[in-house]
Amino acid sequence: MRKKTLPADARATLLRSAKKVMKNAHAPYSKFRVGAAILLSNGKIFPGCNVENASYGMTNCAERTAIFSAVAQLGPMIEIRAVAVVNGQGVPCSPCGACRQVIYEFGPDATIFFQGAKGPKQAHITELLPEGFRLP
Ligand code: THU
Repeated sequence: MRKKTLPADARATLLRSAKKVMKNAHAPYSKFRVGAAILLSNGKIFPGCNVENASYGMTNCAERTAIFSAVAQLGPMIEIRAVAVVNGQGVPCSPCGACRQVIYEFGPDATIFFQGAKGPKQAHITELLPEGFRLP
C-alpha cells in the first residue's frame, strides 16, 4: 500500500483550516466539536464542521460537511488528496465508517491525518476502509 506523503507545510495548512472551522461546530448535544479540512488535487481546501440536530440521527460529521461543500461548489469531479480531522478535546478521533465510505467515493487514494491513540497519525483511506464499496 502506498504511503503518500504530503509536504509538511501543506499538512500544516490543512490542519490549521480544520482547527479554525471547528469553532463553527454545532454540537450542543455531544459537546464534541470536530473540524475537518479536505485538500483537493487542484490544490483547493474545503473546511467543514459537525452539525448536530435535536433529532440525533440527522447529525452531519465534519468530514462529510467539508466534502459536500466542495461538491456543491465545484461539482462531482473533485478528487480528494488528503483529509485532516481535529476535535476540541484533543482525543483520538478517526473518521467514522460512514465518512470513510464518502471519502473513498471522492478520494480512493486519499491520505487521512487524525489523532490516533498514540498521537497524530496518518493513514491511507484503504487502510481505514478496506474493500470500500463501488457500484459495479
Ligand atoms: N464526529 C465527526 O464530526 N467526525 C468524526 O470523525 C467523528 C464524529 C461528530 C459527530 C457528532 O456530532 C459528534 O462528533 C459526536 O459523535
